[in-house]
Amino acid sequence: KDPIETPVIIIGSGYGGAVAALRLCEAGKKVLMLEMGLNWEKSGIPYSNLLKPGKSAAWLKKKTIAPFMNIFSLTPFTGTLDRLDFENINIWVGRGVGGGSIVNGGMAVTPKESYFKEVFPQLDTEKFYQSYFPLARKELKVNTIDEQFLKDCPYYKFTRVGEEEAHKAGFKTIRVPNVYDFKYMEKEFKNEVPRSALNTEVIYGNNYGKNSLDKTYLKKALDTGNLEILDLHYVDSIQLNPDKSYTLNVQNINTSGNVEVEKVFHCQKLILSAGTMGTLKLLMRSNELNQLPIEKSVGKNWGNNGNFMTGRNWVRPLSGGTGVQQSTIPVGGVDNWDDKDHPFFTEIAPLPMGMDVATALYLMINRVDKKGKVSYNGKTQQLVLDWDVSNTQKMRENADYFIKKMNKANGGTRSHFLFKNGFGPNVCYHPLGGCVLGEATNAYGKLNGHENLFILDGSLIPGTIGVNPFVTIVAIAEYCMENLIQQDEFT
Ligand code: FDA
Repeated sequence: KDPIETPVIIIGSGYGGAVAALRLCEAGKKVLMLEMGLNWEKSGIPYSNLLKPGKSAAWLKKKTIAPFMNIFSLTPFTGTLDRLDFENINIWVGRGVGGGSIVNGGMAVTPKESYFKEVFPQLDTEKFYQSYFPLARKELKVNTIDEQFLKDCPYYKFTRVGEEEAHKAGFKTIRVPNVYDFKYMEKEFKNEVPRSALNTEVIYGNNYGKNSLDKTYLKKALDTGNLEILDLHYVDSIQLNPDKSYTLNVQNINTSGNVEVEKVFHCQKLILSAGTMGTLKLLMRSNELNQLPIEKSVGKNWGNNGNFMTGRNWVRPLSGGTGVQQSTIPVGGVDNWDDKDHPFFTEIAPLPMGMDVATALYLMINRVDKKGKVSYNGKTQQLVLDWDVSNTQKMRENADYFIKKMNKANGGTRSHFLFKNGFGPNVCYHPLGGCVLGEATNAYGKLNGHENLFILDGSLIPGTIGVNPFVTIVAIAEYCMENLIQQDEFT
């Protein structure tokens, strides 16, 4: 069968892919984007909320896969949230046009300058903080909640309680910016527009309010007329041809996950933006099946960005707990990063269960002192993650320190209701690394040993960035694309 010819292919429509698409389309290149998930906007199917999980809730699963409270059965459908299960860690990822931006909480945090410098010593920190980070925030439509609204809105009691308690325990809190349009949220509250964040919509998609990538980068790229996105197109493997072009074996699936058509694509330039785990799987699988050259450092320097979930029960049980009504969009965090013994950042997370459970949930981000490694098992055809309790030991100590201090100052217990022993070391929302910038790639994301293959996603960040990662993924992708285009890599 003749391959479908196209000059540039991007695999994956998350943050890295969306930045690459926009900058190439603006430069006048015709770009084809292949995305395994559904184009939800085009499909017209609404996203479901946390209390009534439906089609968008999970990627081809019979039951919901939230980090807890999975009592809902599902008919398998190409939903937005997927979970990749490894021996000691579960990794959640977004599926669909927009990648992780469809399912995530929208927290748009710029890393601390000193930590960014530590993680990326080779980059011009000043240029990043003066140019690429502001550009990323502008394109992503990052904004901040109005303090008066936060003070008055019953849906943010969980944040107010969380901040009060943190202060009482001697911690510093910070306001967290987001891509959710807070002006829209104020209108939601007044019932002037349909509700989304105030209607328990988040990890299965937001119908309104959230500026996910389909409303920002991807929309702008499509508006140039140079981008075509094919959804429900799963790239199974890649082959390097003698003339240094690439051939892709692709499965066009239906919404039940069955393969409808096998397709072959051929391109001169290939960008891998399948997300950390997706990109690593494609590289390693293609190496196993088609001898795609990959260099030794691919798979190394992987980390969970220090993700560690924890929680507290009996939080103000006699005065309405953390609130019956909760917005799904977090706006507060505890910043303990400068404490040498216990450096961490934690999101004061919502738990919108539709009832008062007097429980506080925290998603902590720690340093990753011991990195993991990703490899591929040819027999099972699955990725293998070298990651165990020793990798999360320090994170556990920080969580224990935080919870004890909070309980001592405010009352409450470690949350056995949410997690075994009160700790969720196996919950990972931020897989990073394995294809590290300047290690597995050149200075701008071109994979070592290749002329025409570029990596642009979370796998470029060496396992840790100290805050929620998408603003950094976008800034790095902007930096790489600017330089790659300047160097005529796509002509
Ligand atoms: P991303 O994962 O976004 O996109 C990769 C795309 O490639 C996906 O759409 C996938 O379907 C597709 N793909 C993979 N393999 C493929 C194949 N073989 N063929 C075709 N397509 C393929 N971060 C943050 O900064 N703030 C936050 O508030 C949150 N909150 C949050 C909540 C939850 C529940 C999750 C799961 C994650 C977050 N995150 C977050 C993390 C953030 O969403 C994540 O870091 C980015 O989406 C990663 O961006 P990438 O560009 O690396 O890939």
